[in-house]
Amino acid sequence: MNEEQRKDGQQAINPSDKKSDKDYSKYFETVYTPPSLKEAKKRGKEEVTYHHDFKIDERFQGMGRERNFYIRTYGCQMNEHDTEVMAGIFMALGYKAVHTPEEADVILLNTCAIRENAENKVFGELGFLKQLKRDNPNLLLGVCGCMSQEESVVNKILKSYHHVDMIFGTHNIHRLPEILNEAYLSKEMVVEVWSKEGDVIENLPKVRRGNIKAWVNIMYGCDKFCTYCIVPYTRGKERSRRPDEIIREVRHLAAQGYQEVTLLGQNVNAYGKDLDDMKYGLGELMDEIRHIGIPRVRFMTSHPRDFDDQLIEVLAKGGNLMDHIHLPVQSGSTDVLKIMARKYTREGYLELVRKIKAAIPNVTLTTDIIVGYPNETDEQFEETMSLYREVGFELAYTYIYSPREGTPAAKMVDNVPMEVKKARLQRLNALVNELAGESMKKYEGQVVDVLIEGESKKNPDVLAGYTSKSKLVNVKAPKSAIGKIIPVKITEAKTWSLDGEAVEIQKMAGVN
Ligand code: 5AD
Ligand code: SF4
Repeated sequence: MNEEQRKDGQQAINPSDKKSDKDYSKYFETVYTPPSLKEAKKRGKEEVTYHHDFKIDERFQGMGRERNFYIRTYGCQMNEHDTEVMAGIFMALGYKAVHTPEEADVILLNTCAIRENAENKVFGELGFLKQLKRDNPNLLLGVCGCMSQEESVVNKILKSYHHVDMIFGTHNIHRLPEILNEAYLSKEMVVEVWSKEGDVIENLPKVRRGNIKAWVNIMYGCDKFCTYCIVPYTRGKERSRRPDEIIREVRHLAAQGYQEVTLLGQNVNAYGKDLDDMKYGLGELMDEIRHIGIPRVRFMTSHPRDFDDQLIEVLAKGGNLMDHIHLPVQSGSTDVLKIMARKYTREGYLELVRKIKAAIPNVTLTTDIIVGYPNETDEQFEETMSLYREVGFELAYTYIYSPREGTPAAKMVDNVPMEVKKARLQRLNALVNELAGESMKKYEGQVVDVLIEGESKKNPDVLAGYTSKSKLVNVKAPKSAIGKIIPVKITEAKTWSLDGEAVEIQKMAGVN
């Protein structure tokens, strides 16, 4: 993308004196807008532009010589993958990766905005990093990711965190070389939050974490506008990558020996809806990827509303398509689902589960749930509890509702006291633990295939990996098993993990 195109689409400011108590409001009048449902809903009409022309400008060659970078990542896999892209850009500029902020010349916090506590962690970290800036005035400190897309956050950093050198948004990652350059030259806070959100940039460099599992973006953004959710504002409108680009990337990963890919999107089931020139969805994509020689393929995250029969039919073919589906339900009450604008009912969700189970009898289902939605009644919460049992989820990520500025739910009057919300979360978590424990117990004595990823975090003499259903297994096996899928006999089930022994070792023990 050239400079002219950038100017057309972006809105950037560079307040000239971050040390003073300057009034920045004039910038916000023209530059920032808080998340606005009305505005965001108009965006669907814009055309998606695909760029293949990313390259590091000659001016920046060698910028990173003798310099180290450190990126701390918060939030979801999408953010983790963005970090891989930013690491790729840093390395292309000649920077070296380091493992601690103390060793770094540039520190980036790649932030998450999904709940208030995610944001608080970042502000805490920024406070902590102030000392490092004092010790090393040449250190550059940047805030990027989802929080940078929020007006209130940018405002707060400009006002109270003067030691920050750069703020840039999720649409600006490809501009990292320019942003760094500006930060070095001006030593002023560089703020670049690009409001143009309709682009897909294809040829960005990436440095993947590890060589066993890889993430592959299939789409960006979200147009679902669930009333509680900040993501449609921080990540922009839905836009799909072209299937040939995705398939090429997966083939390349397979050729490099990767054992698993996870296809990523905020709402992967909407994949292809914006590809006007072809009728092509997640089902078609998975059906093509099924034929690529990569042992494991997953996808996340699904939205029940767009989960169609064609996809179920393809997933039922099995092979390298894993028998685990993460299918966030959020609530078991049709009334709450309506207020959340999830656009399905309790019955609709249960019907989808019935169809999935009929087609894939061995399927494992996991979910996300929010408790304590504004005005959620005891009865409505009980419906969530009963749905959980009825589906038989094997795991859930559970959250107390957290109001996010600019979302419709944040304007709702809420009559549920925090103690009630906490008590509901506790009860739900007890149920989650109970069913998780039960689902694990069934594995005792069984042999399962485990993709061994490395040493266990707790004990380097034991290896750790995951089953096809994403169960963590601690395995007694030789180190040569790392990176391979091996049969493992499960010796003991715990609530969140399994212990086992490589079958080959057992065989050897039997012979001796
Ligand atoms: N409050 C609490 N939980 C939320 N989630 C998304 N937004 C909020 C919010 N405002 C949860 C949903 C989603 C998961 C990634 O985070 O359950 O599926
Ligand atoms: Fe957090 Fe959502 Fe952004 Fe992921 S997309 S980092 S979950 S706010």
